Amino acid sequence: MNIATPNHDSIRAVLWQGDHLRLLDQRRLPVEETYVDCRSAEEVASAIRDLVVRGAPAIGIAAAWGVVLAAQNEPERLEAASAHLRAARPTAVNLMWALDRMAGAGTDAQALAREAQAIQDEDLAANRRMGELGAALLDADAGVLTHCNTGSLATAGYGTALGVIRAGVSSGRISRVYAGETRPWLQGARLTMWELLRDGIPATLIADSAAAHLMKSGAVQWVVVGADRIAANGDTANKIGTYQLAISARHHGVRFMVVAPFSTVDMATAGGADIEIELRAPDELLGYAGQRTVVAGAQAWNPVFDVTPAGLIDAIVTERGVVERPDAQRMAELFRRTR
Ligand code: MRU
Repeated sequence: MNIATPNHDSIRAVLWQGDHLRLLDQRRLPVEETYVDCRSAEEVASAIRDLVVRGAPAIGIAAAWGVVLAAQNEPERLEAASAHLRAARPTAVNLMWALDRMAGAGTDAQALAREAQAIQDEDLAANRRMGELGAALLDADAGVLTHCNTGSLATAGYGTALGVIRAGVSSGRISRVYAGETRPWLQGARLTMWELLRDGIPATLIADSAAAHLMKSGAVQWVVVGADRIAANGDTANKIGTYQLAISARHHGVRFMVVAPFSTVDMATAGGADIEIELRAPDELLGYAGQRTVVAGAQAWNPVFDVTPAGLIDAIVTERGVVERPDAQRMAELFRRTR
């Protein structure tokens, strides 16, 4: 089967308005398409913490605009504002990367706005390039499973893993797209399904717990996911559940692709054990949509990322090139070659 689709990419989640930042409120999708306007770095930090905006590259881009807001409105607090933004979430290194880059651009509000715009524009270009590189790894008539949301909602546009899926569907290589619902926050069910259907890409939702059964059926040849931080040895932190998908994929002979811009690669972190894993409130697991679903008094453990060891990854796709069977040496080679 060939899914006929235009190369659509109609969604933008992070919109600079000249004097404030408009964010598509991802807590409310797909029920409502509403926006949150941020007028200070503090408001941007809260939006990142509360998941109004989420996804590693989008968090970095939003934080960069948060620095611009501080430079415009409270220049004397620029450093404090940047520190506040940095503490909003711990795992996605794109946040720290973007803030470091903004710190290198000085203190002038106009220069900072140019830098934030460059970060946003470069992310979109990187996604389109990764889309081409990743799709080229797929055989014809491929079925793919993705996890979480890695699309236009999570980036400047087009997406990382979802960019590969967009490119693969456009070129006719991908015939079947499956999305895991991504408990507990449902990025897959609420965001990825909305984004794909909105852009004319048919997709099938599965419960996270159906993944191994799906792989056994032969319907998917690749798992394609994004990343929040890739260590120097290729170990990859991504949304909780990614690790079990990688184990399952290896067992079933399904290949496993990580797609992320180079801003997600953290050469200063040696391996996955050194990556801080964000723990979020137990309430995210104990209820749904404000409604308690678990008996009062119950406890819950809610790590929202996990680490997939490099040995379970067949390819890491960045805009600088593809690293097959990643390890410390191959990652260092890519870094040296493309510096
Ligand atoms: O908690 P989230 O929704 O910010 O987590 C997002 C993910 O884990 C994505 O897979 C990752 O950030 C890559 S987005 C291109």
